[in-house]
Amino acid sequence: MGKNTDRSFVLRGDICYSTSPTHLDARRDAHVVCVDGVSQGVFDTLPEKYRGLPLVDCTGKLVTPGLNDIHLHAPQYTFRGIAMDLELLDWLNTYTFPEEGKYRELAYASTAYDIFVDDLRRSATTRAVIFATLHVPATELLMDKLEKTGLKTYVGKVNMDRNSPDFLCEDSAAASLDATRAWIEKTKGAYRNTLPILTPRFTPTCSDELMKGLGDLVGEYGLPVQSHLSENLSEIDWVKGLCPWSTCYGQTYKHFGLLGGSTKTVMAHCVYSTDEEIALMKQAGTYIAHCPQSNMFLSSGIAPIKRYLDEGLNVGLGTDVAGGANLSMFRAISDAVGVSKLRWRCVDQSFAPLTIQEAFYLATLGGGSFFGKVGSFAEGYEFDALVLDDSGIRSVRELDIAQRIERFAYLSSEGGTITQKYVAGVRVL
Ligand code: GUN
Ligand code: FE
Repeated sequence: MGKNTDRSFVLRGDICYSTSPTHLDARRDAHVVCVDGVSQGVFDTLPEKYRGLPLVDCTGKLVTPGLNDIHLHAPQYTFRGIAMDLELLDWLNTYTFPEEGKYRELAYASTAYDIFVDDLRRSATTRAVIFATLHVPATELLMDKLEKTGLKTYVGKVNMDRNSPDFLCEDSAAASLDATRAWIEKTKGAYRNTLPILTPRFTPTCSDELMKGLGDLVGEYGLPVQSHLSENLSEIDWVKGLCPWSTCYGQTYKHFGLLGGSTKTVMAHCVYSTDEEIALMKQAGTYIAHCPQSNMFLSSGIAPIKRYLDEGLNVGLGTDVAGGANLSMFRAISDAVGVSKLRWRCVDQSFAPLTIQEAFYLATLGGGSFFGKVGSFAEGYEFDALVLDDSGIRSVRELDIAQRIERFAYLSSEGGTITQKYVAGVRVL
């Protein structure tokens, strides 16, 4: 059955996936069928027609869709877990820009990216949307390394032509656009798993001329876009000064065709989005990358994710390394729940805290749809999966599958292990 037998098989285990933001479908000793890299659905009893497929027996283990990290910075992995004492703009100038400047040196980039890529490969992440730096050679090197992991990623050569230190600033909008075009031409069809994404860092570091040119590239190449939006109050004030013509921060992207609509766009944070900005994102189908750990550690604030979900916006989760300290998407799930409770208690009781089901949805289907039919075991979805051994998280209690997933999000570092990982039906771990 199936032409590509290594991407056609049955996994048996305790299967759990989101069928909506509020509902987890959990089945004990069930089967999920993958044919040519695509899920055929979950079955308590394996249908006759699939009985000839190889059976991967994961009885007693949890089987979930892979987790999608839709915002992180590969070059910042070197200083994860340190330098957490400043807010965004000072943090960028003091720690981030000097570090990213080092990626001009390919030898440094190669060593640093080897560690990042290997850790990402071993993490719970199956797909990711990644910032590199403004350096084209180092960005291509990162793409080469990611390609070999089998993970599916979008990678962005960063654009920045103003308000940046000399050692990390492109000479002009034209120079930035030329470098971007050359990079797109070289990488756009070059890989199976790794795709370029346009990456204006954020409005403060991108001139109007650069933004306009990037908008033109969206039209020309049909590439997706990633950036940052409404993360920090000083940043938002700065954008008002830089773009006095704009009515909200989001409009500084929208004006140039960089907020979504014609192609998929992901904006990280959206902690302080106004009603107008939310309406623009809703209209454009913008993806919001919620990065709770980064929002805590950079003292940015707490994004109103429940509101975004209620209003039907596209939302996923990001680690935002190194604003967030680690690559754990399980940690992102539990942090999303945690900060939503603080928001409810301290900021605004009109939106309930997120449930664990909602946070799991964000990490799987919510962010997964940025990549297409990804993030579910429903029939027709690309088969991305994790096999999780939670036997090392010891307890005398009998737990149901949903409780075991919840516990894994909070306690995975206590002895939970990822024993297998699949992306589009290919085993990558
Ligand atoms: N805004 C612009 N650049 C960055 C960055 O590197 N990290 C975060 N968290 N926000 C940004
Ligand atoms: Fe970021």
